[in-house]
Amino acid sequence: MCGIVGYIGYRRVLPVLLDGLKRLEYRGYDSAGVAWPEKQKIMRIRAKGKLNMLEEALEDFRGTKTTIGLGHTRWATHGEPTEGNAHPHADCTGELVVVHNGIIENYYSLREELKKEGHVFSSETDTEVIAHLIEKYLEDDLEIAVSKALERVEGAYALGVLWLKQPDILIAARKQSPLVIGLAERECFMASDIPALLPYTNKVIFLEDGQMAALKGDSLELKSISDRKPLNKSIQEIKWDASMAEKAGFKHFMLKEIYEQPDAILNTYRGRIIPEKGQIKFDEINLDKDAIGRIKRIVLLACGTSWHAGLVGKYWIEKWAKIPVEVELASEFRYKELLIDNDYLTVPISQSGETADTLAGLRIAKELGSYIISICNVLGSTITRESDGTVYTHAGPEIGVASTKAFTSQLTALYLLALYLAQELGKLSSREIGEKLEGLMTVPSIIKERLPAWHESAKVLADKYYSYSDFLYLGRNLQFPIALEGALKLKEISYIHAEGYAAGEMKHGPIALIDRNMPVVALCPQDHVYEKMVSNIEEVRSRRGIVISVGVEGDEGLERISNEIITVSKVADDINPFIFTIPLQLIAYEIALARGCDVDQPRNLAKSVTVE
Ligand code: F6R
Repeated sequence: MCGIVGYIGYRRVLPVLLDGLKRLEYRGYDSAGVAWPEKQKIMRIRAKGKLNMLEEALEDFRGTKTTIGLGHTRWATHGEPTEGNAHPHADCTGELVVVHNGIIENYYSLREELKKEGHVFSSETDTEVIAHLIEKYLEDDLEIAVSKALERVEGAYALGVLWLKQPDILIAARKQSPLVIGLAERECFMASDIPALLPYTNKVIFLEDGQMAALKGDSLELKSISDRKPLNKSIQEIKWDASMAEKAGFKHFMLKEIYEQPDAILNTYRGRIIPEKGQIKFDEINLDKDAIGRIKRIVLLACGTSWHAGLVGKYWIEKWAKIPVEVELASEFRYKELLIDNDYLTVPISQSGETADTLAGLRIAKELGSYIISICNVLGSTITRESDGTVYTHAGPEIGVASTKAFTSQLTALYLLALYLAQELGKLSSREIGEKLEGLMTVPSIIKERLPAWHESAKVLADKYYSYSDFLYLGRNLQFPIALEGALKLKEISYIHAEGYAAGEMKHGPIALIDRNMPVVALCPQDHVYEKMVSNIEEVRSRRGIVISVGVEGDEGLERISNEIITVSKVADDINPFIFTIPLQLIAYEIALARGCDVDQPRNLAKSVTVE
């Protein structure tokens, strides 16, 4: 939610800021702005709409030679997406500017106080109070003023601050919203997320809560916000490279990321399995056999697509490791009465590692004594830093707002975790584990081989069905969460109303919706609930619903009762979720395209949900 970039060094600042904002646009895209010092004043250019509007507004400033500045791409919380509400925000003098990601909870009382003191506000945002508050404490040292101001602020922030009178320093500060500093020879960067830094450096410092940094071209000072005492820097090296955050010839990031799934899955299990020994290595979770033996219950904690991955994970863990699992929506979990204690293992699942609700749930579970192992894609993110151990998914940066490769790599991590727990508890033999690993290892090549055909089928379906306004997705057992995920993909990028349902629940309500205007996507692998699924399809047919099946190739019976069918290879039942997911992603993608929707940046959404 909102993307911040800042630069100080020797390069012309505007191309660096715009490039960084492009790489962060997935975090928010309703307006954007930049600010830099030039000719004794702060230039502040902002524009409503996507980044290209800002680029247009900056046409006249191409010659700017300044080498320090700040940029921001916004996802509105307080105040509509207008130019006036776009960041950077300025103080009364216009000489101090601030970019912010987060929410200032006490902004109203601060604003009233500052107004009484004569400050004049020009936006409806919570952020503007920070600019005026810093102005209030500003004498001749920006760092001191920022720290005094932040002592008064309640809520979450990642901040970048620039002041005309100290044009050789940028201040960064963080509480509960992510901020990463990039270090290179004679230049420093700040950004909300790593992709903005990748073209320039892979040496980064993740700011912790309560830390601020003074960025100068050739040095960086890290301090605590409260007393400005210097802190040690822990510099980390990122393995991702810049090309991983580019489209590589694909029309959209989402499509590229769909096609990257074979690699994302493979990279997630690679190095963790020894199939010939039927063994899984998971040193990173820091749990020995005894500790695993003491786990009485597991909570999988997540939001959105990651929650769907958790629902699949529950089936695997309960089936193989025989440990009861609860799958909790983090936004509900954090506000209910919890029975968690130190016999619980809590597993937050998050692509970004910054989702506010998941992070809050993690903290509550930890407080109650639970051990925490996160499943996460972003190195050094807050969730990973607050966990006792992390299973990283190695999907590479996911930029498309609709999660695709992160989901299938989360499934991979959960599949391995379930097998690992079973291994350590002696619930499965090494032969059984070996067979399941062999099954997993077939997934990347199956997906790679079938992707082009699925894509073609998805185009044909999109052509026929893009104008329908409601869809139902049905699945049973392991395919139920996949039905939820398919429906979520469709609704979030094509704005079509879509619902995922456990097929057996249909007759308890949703069947009333079925008529010839309701395409029903039925997930129909040849597993132990196949016959039940076929009966559900018959029920749809007899009410004139349109049946779009995803089923196993050569299943003539299914073909006969379906209006449309996309076929997949026959694989072991437990592998089906990986395979069935991909055609659904492609259907959503192609339908959104046919409707002229902005696939990578759907309305009202942002990639990393760092607010409640
Ligand atoms: C949907 C989607 C979201 C995220 C959710 C959690 O395509 O991307 O539903 O899955 O916001 O995000 P993370 O996994 O970053 O915690």
